[in-house]
Amino acid sequence: PAKFTSALFTSHVPAIGAAMDLGKTEEPYWKKVFDGYEWTRRWAKENTPDVVILVYNDHATAFDSNIIPTFVLGTGAHYPVADEGYGPRPVPDVKGYPELAAHIAQSVIQDDFDLTLVNEMVVDHGLTVPLSLVFGDVDEWPCRVIPLPVNVVQYPVPSGRRCYELGRAIRRALDKWDGPKLNVQIWGTGGMSHQLQGPRAGLINEEWDNAFLDHLIADPLGLTEWPHMEYVDEAGSEGIELVDWLIARGAMDDQFGGEAPEMNHRFYHVPASNTAVGHLVMTNPTASQEDPS
Ligand code: DHB
Ligand code: FE
Repeated sequence: PAKFTSALFTSHVPAIGAAMDLGKTEEPYWKKVFDGYEWTRRWAKENTPDVVILVYNDHATAFDSNIIPTFVLGTGAHYPVADEGYGPRPVPDVKGYPELAAHIAQSVIQDDFDLTLVNEMVVDHGLTVPLSLVFGDVDEWPCRVIPLPVNVVQYPVPSGRRCYELGRAIRRALDKWDGPKLNVQIWGTGGMSHQLQGPRAGLINEEWDNAFLDHLIADPLGLTEWPHMEYVDEAGSEGIELVDWLIARGAMDDQFGGEAPEMNHRFYHVPASNTAVGHLVMTNPTASQEDPS
């Protein structure tokens, strides 16, 4: 099997990418945000994965009303950085892992999940901002990435339960991988509370966000019962991005009754742009005990 080590969760606010790209990270407003990722950057240097399965949501960049796939698995070798209106971010393009992605597709689709397999797409801030937050300014990303964009833009969106179950199916696929030994992480990105449009634009709900974090850590099955309208009512129209996190959390579920994941880092800060920034790192307790052969 692949060595499945950690899950990481983070907001993916585009202005965080712009702050890095324009050299503003030391400004007081942004320093408060980046300080919350210092621990993670040190940790990521010592725990660099071979592959990240990066769950995010495309923001009508690669997909729009022409095609609305609920769950996409990127099976390609290479993903260019999208131009979201100001030119592509000056960050490296993303290298995929077609062999592992094909294995996950085989396992997860035969496990009754409908995935849309995409070989060619651009990746937007939902994917590149988390990579920048964790790995900093680099000439090349230090790992391969399997993009997993989830539709939360066009209704109907998938439920938290469905996302969690997909994460569990991905974990079963990783446990069956018999290719080269790989250190695999899964990242869940988006959120936390924010609403970019309409009369409630600017909405932030710190209390609800922290309850979400508490339940994600300690009561993920209870969290899967929260209906999608609760995300929208409590965390704003874009707060629904948080269902992406349930996929990464589902992959941490030891379906054979093992220990709960170990919590390594938790950070919450308001605001960055229009959004509450949340960030967690957790480790699979069995990762270090697995046979390294
Ligand atoms: C903002 C946050 C997002 O997650 C996003 O996709 C776009 C904008 C914001 O805070 O401005
Ligand atoms: Fe977003």
